[in-house]
Parts: sequence; C-alpha cells; structure tokens
Amino acid sequence: MNLVSYTASVNVDKRMWHQDIRGSLAHARMLARQAIISPSDLADIERGMAQIVSEIEAGSFKWSLDLKDVHLNIEYRLTMLVGDAGKRLHTGRSRNDQVATDIRLYLRDAIDDILTLLKTFQTSLLDLAEREAATPMPGCTHLQVAQPVTFGHHLLAWFEMTRRDAERFADVRKRTNFLPLGAAALAGTTYPIDREFVAAELGFAGVCENSLDAVSDRDFAIEFCAAASMLMMHFSRMSEELVLWMNPRFGFVRIADRFCTGSSIMPQKKNPDVPELARGKTGRVYGHLMSLLTLMKGQPLAFNKDNQEDKEPLFDAVDTVSDTLRISAEMIAGITARPENMRDALRQGFATATDLADYLTRKGLPFRDAHEAVGLAVKRAEELGVDLPQLSLAELQAFSPMIGEDVFAVLTVEGSLNSRDHIGGTAPKRVVEAILSARKRL
Ligand code: ARG
Repeated sequence: MNLVSYTASVNVDKRMWHQDIRGSLAHARMLARQAIISPSDLADIERGMAQIVSEIEAGSFKWSLDLKDVHLNIEYRLTMLVGDAGKRLHTGRSRNDQVATDIRLYLRDAIDDILTLLKTFQTSLLDLAEREAATPMPGCTHLQVAQPVTFGHHLLAWFEMTRRDAERFADVRKRTNFLPLGAAALAGTTYPIDREFVAAELGFAGVCENSLDAVSDRDFAIEFCAAASMLMMHFSRMSEELVLWMNPRFGFVRIADRFCTGSSIMPQKKNPDVPELARGKTGRVYGHLMSLLTLMKGQPLAFNKDNQEDKEPLFDAVDTVSDTLRISAEMIAGITARPENMRDALRQGFATATDLADYLTRKGLPFRDAHEAVGLAVKRAEELGVDLPQLSLAELQAFSPMIGEDVFAVLTVEGSLNSRDHIGGTAPKRVVEAILSARKRL
C-alpha cells in the first residue's frame, strides 16, 4: 500500500460514474443558461460526456488511481476529448458539493430499486399467505406452542414488518432528495448560479439550505443504514423461523433444494444455507451503520476527508439489502407448507387450552378459577397422552361441572381459529380480508 492507493477512492467511487455525469451535465446546462460558459462550451461538454458514457459502458474507459476519484477521472478524460470546455466545467463547483450530490443521487436510485424489490418480495409473501390462509399452525410465545394461528396469519406478520421497512426507506428518500451543488467547497460561490434550476434538472425536491451543511453531513446515508439494519433485523428473524421450520423436529415447511446445500462429509444433510446467510449478513449491515455514525461524530464543519470513507459501508449496505430481498423473494415463492406436521405440533401443545378457559369464563366462572381448572385438565390429558378434545365429557366435567356437550366445538383447532374474528385476528376469513387489504396498499 503506497500513498497514492491510500488516498485514492476511485476503485470504490467509480460506481457512481453515472450519477457524476448526470450531475455534471445539469451543472453545465445551468452554467450556459446563466451565460457563465458559452453555448459552444456546453455543446462540447455534452458531446464529450456522451463519448465517456459509451467508453465506460463498453469497458474501454481507463480508470487511473493517480487521478484519485471518479470526479477527477471523468473530468480529465473530458478535457482530453474536448479541451478548454472540459476545463470550464468545474466553474462554480467543488468536488465537495459534487461528491455530496453524487451520493444523494446514487442513494435515491438505490432506494427506488430497493422499494421495487421489496414490493416483489411482499407479493411473493402475500401469494403464499393466500394459499395458506386457513392452514392451522401453532402460534408460539417463548417458542412454546401457545394458541392456534393460521400459517397465512403468521406470514402476514412478516408482511407488516416489511411494510414499515418500506415506509422507512421512502422517508429516508425524502430527506436525501435535496441538492448540495452550489455550496462549492463550503461557503458558496461568487458566480451567478441558479441552484433551483439544477435541482429541477436532477429531480431533487429542493436545494440544501446551508452550504456548510450541504458539503458536510452524511446523515441521510446514516439513516439509510439504520433503515437497512432494521430491514435486515426483520429478515434475520424470518430466516431464523425458516431454519427452525425446516428442521425435521418441526417439519413445518419445505424449501426448494437450490436454497439449501448438502454437507461435504455427512451425506444425509440438507442445510438451510440461504436463511442462514441472510441472518449472518445482518451483522455486516449493523456494522456499516456503526461505521458511518462513528465516521461522522468527530467532524468539525465543513468537509473533511474522513467523508471519503462513507462509500464502502453505504454501497455494501445497498448491495446486501438488495441481494437479500431478491433471493428471499425467490425463496418464499418456493416454500411448501406441511400442514400435517403443523397439526401434530398443535395437538402436542394443547393449543386450545385458552379456548377452554374462555369457555368456562363465558359460563360464569371467574377467569383465574377457569385457568386453574384447565391447568388440571391439561395435566390429566398429558398423563393419558391425549389432546384436550380427546378427553370424554365425563372426564372434562371432573374439572368443572359447568362443562357441557358444546365444549367440543370450542376445543377444536378450527373452532379456536374461527372465534378470533376481529381485525388483526387469526380467523381464516379475517386473514383473507387482511390479504386483500394488503394487496390494495401495495
Ligand atoms: N473523493 C472525495 C470524496 O469521496 C471527493 C471530495 C474531495 N474533496 C476534497 N476537498 N478533497 O469525498
């Protein structure tokens, strides 16, 4: 590692070449409009930039470490191609406001892509939820069987998490979408620039209101990493559930083989690689959030070279979230439920015990007494190795004389599910409604 490679950033920031050129063209158009450069300079710049775009796209553009970053590489080539007009492009601008503009443009594009990927994932999720809207599975607390829910209902919980993730990204986009250009190095510029014009050209909602802040703060990138961390946290939780559900002890779902691998030594293995990787990659995104917070915390106004280190964490967070969304959408589409195993787990977990307690409460027994009576009934069923509805009426009545023939409707899984019939409840007809309203909101 020598000094040049220590200080250069082109290997990382050349990823923003498209945004850099877009920003430069908007700036040049403004300069010409304000008669700061001539119409023929603008024509030269546009011609040169078009040539550079085709060179980069063809892979023939020569990136040079000696030219430090994406901005100087492109400007150098432009000047080679069009001469003095290329040298005039940087009038009224600094790399400080240029790079801040590029990152905001880049992140805005990235958020738009992520929102599209998120929507595809959510559509896969809703398709699966629709197929499994009435499939009973154990709902857990403390990872112990608690009460019956439907698989569709469980998947809708995932949907709600990702819906808030989408809102967070859309919200970050709003604050990202302001134009730094015009701040120049830090104090603004002496040329008669028109920042509003450049903002409109680039589709920004407005201009950054303070030149020092414009070139300095990267809070929008930090916010993005916070939203990305939250999303990854959600995907990590989902992954953890998939890992459990794929384990033969649960056996609740099958995942398409291509998302799993075997072991190099144990021939029987089918490992849930993709969910495990999603869970694992969460850590690196949390790390990027911490990197950026720490990068920023000691910086006096305005621009400091520290900020050059903002791109690697940001880009990797973008990549990790995008890849995770893309692969997860495919994986969800390839999931098959195994309802028989879900039902077995419900039986072993006495999942309708609360329903029996509610039944007794409706008959007038105070809830605490009902809770105790049902506790004894569960103990008895456990001894006999049966589920609650398999106890006879006489056996059940030993725990409370209030129990009548109508108890069996309450003790079935279907009875339990159907009775949770309100907004946000797990009754299959409510789940179907929730899916419809989710589709409308998408
Ligand atoms: N490569 C720099 C960055 O990524 C561009 C801005 C450099 N400005 C400066 N005054 N050295 O932030």
